[in-house]
Amino acid sequence: MSTDLAPNSRWQEVQQQVGILGRSEAIRRLLETIEQVAQTDISVLITGESGTGKELVARAIHARSRRRLNPLITVNCGAIPEGIIESELFGHEKGSFTGAIGPRKGYFELADKGSIFLDEIGELPLTTQVKLLRVLESREFMRVGGVTSVQTDVRFIAATNKQLEEEVRRGNFREDLFYRLNAVHIRVPALRERSEDIPILVRKFAQEFVRENHIDFGGFSESALAAMAHARWPGNIRELRNVVEKIIVLERGAYVEEATIRRYLNISHPMDPALPVPLKRGREESERDLLLRVLLEIKSEIAQLRELLLRRQAAPYPLAPWREDLAEEYLEPAQPPADGEHSSVAEMERELIQNALLKFGGSKRRAARALGLSERTLYRKIEKYGLKGTHE
Ligand SMILES: Nc1ncnc2c1ncn2[C@@H]1O[C@H](COP(=O)(O)OP(=O)(O)OP(=O)(O)O)[C@@H](O)[C@H]1O
Ligand SMILES: [Mg+2]
Repeated sequence: MSTDLAPNSRWQEVQQQVGILGRSEAIRRLLETIEQVAQTDISVLITGESGTGKELVARAIHARSRRRLNPLITVNCGAIPEGIIESELFGHEKGSFTGAIGPRKGYFELADKGSIFLDEIGELPLTTQVKLLRVLESREFMRVGGVTSVQTDVRFIAATNKQLEEEVRRGNFREDLFYRLNAVHIRVPALRERSEDIPILVRKFAQEFVRENHIDFGGFSESALAAMAHARWPGNIRELRNVVEKIIVLERGAYVEEATIRRYLNISHPMDPALPVPLKRGREESERDLLLRVLLEIKSEIAQLRELLLRRQAAPYPLAPWREDLAEEYLEPAQPPADGEHSSVAEMERELIQNALLKFGGSKRRAARALGLSERTLYRKIEKYGLKGTHE
């Protein structure tokens, strides 16, 4: 494909630099919008389903901006415990709370002259939302325990997979902050809305995976690609990549036909009522499915971990917003549960959390979802029960 080598338009040039693949009208528009807004300092709100590429878009905006040589600081608002979120964002002065042995810069100071990416902005507590609005409006803030204002020159990029208007209506998100952040709204389309991109993505992911892992692969038939293009992909690009990699590993060099794809898709979306449900499966077949499902989960965790590690390596500052030193001061200390009835309830809770963390390979996001807790509550409980060694 000559266009891969010689971009003949602006959006293709952007595409080559930032790795947002696709030829659909939706992707072309997305890349054009990125290019337009990247040149300005305007705040951007990125929305879209999980796995659609919101973080990739945020990184692309920074990479195409005049700020690109300065840091892009990513903050996962859902993962920072409420008690330390303001000190994380704005920094603190010496002695502002027990354990604040020296002054410390927050993310806003670290992002000076660069960009700040507030991921999962919908998870920010209301009190912090007020302070954030002030920074957006005045470009200055105070460190926790500080008396003078600190100036900051940052570009705001925020993302969420929540319906923020709905959160505003429910009183969980401040309307004024919503309008400020929403100066430009970029909606990243779900994969099923641009299914013509799927074969391109599949080929690229397969190519990369085979090259990186030195394994044989016989390729996909046209009808196999078409079957993938017609699937719903609730987990979007992240899921597509995982399925492609799983097929390459498990089919060991075979030429992959449509029937194989159907089998993997049924496993990948076992709960999806919109998909044809396989009837009367043999025991062996069911066992194989179960095994593949477990493998898929493990694979997906490994992929997420790899992504996290790569990002950490590339980051100018550790991206994981968790700071154990602060958390220890701020949160309830790890202690054995109290005696009596409470202790058995607490023990049960501890065990449930431990099992969920084990099951999901330490992924707090997935464990929280399975337990019906918010990520932040889970972090607090992990700390409370002293379940260490699983920080992401
Ligand atoms: N257009 C694209 N071309 C190639 N790879 C993509 C594209 N969009 C996303 N990806 C890849 O898909 C994966 C998920 O993307 P990303 O983490 O940006 O999604 P997200 O929308 O932030 O998901 P979540 O809501 O779960 O945080 C990443 O590996 C990313 O590199
Ligand atoms: Mg994301």
